[in-house]
Amino acid sequence: MNITLGICEKNFLETLEGHEEILFSDKGKYHAIFCDHKKVGVVGFIPVVFPKCTGFVQIVIDPKSRGKGMAEIAEDLLAQKYHLRALYATIKIDNLASIRAHRKAGFTMIDEKRLEVLRDQGLLGENEIRMEKEYKIFTE
Ligand SMILES: CC(C)(COP(=O)(O)OP(=O)(O)OC[C@H]1O[C@@H](n2cnc3c(N)ncnc32)[C@H](O)[C@@H]1OP(=O)(O)O)[C@@H](O)C(=O)NCCC(=O)NCCS
Repeated sequence: MNITLGICEKNFLETLEGHEEILFSDKGKYHAIFCDHKKVGVVGFIPVVFPKCTGFVQIVIDPKSRGKGMAEIAEDLLAQKYHLRALYATIKIDNLASIRAHRKAGFTMIDEKRLEVLRDQGLLGENEIRMEKEYKIFTE
């Protein structure tokens, strides 16, 4: 399984089942995910101003290609490409597939106290959780 990142057209994203789970922002950097030269999904991130070199990850994989661990590879490639120090994932509480995929990919849940603060500040919905993954290796 050879995973690479390429150019992403918005039209392609809209053909993918589950694309409404992700946020498409003009400020985001998005890439098509290729598996053995076949387009199988989209991965991207919306940059955060502070802390710098971090962002909110967005990912959708074609249902036929799910369950093969491609999310981790695609997100790691993205972090490497943009020299990111960390990625954050905001995930709906009932999106068990995404929570599981991100946990498997090395993301950890932000602790309850921080989740509460974000909710109080209106930065996180009551039905959402946030996970994060640090990529120290790419900044050395
Ligand atoms: C989230 C998403 C990208 C994960 O892609 P993927 O290629 O299936 O990811 P992985 O193969 O790494 O892992 C998926 C894991 O979730 C599990 N899973 C799938 N559907 C599940 C469900 N309904 N409930 C619980 N676990 C589920 C799989 O079994 C697998 O775990 P396992 O390997 O231990 O069996 C994909 O589900 C998707 O595109 N969803 C729609 C868009 C979306 O929700 N994006 C994320 C927004 S935050």
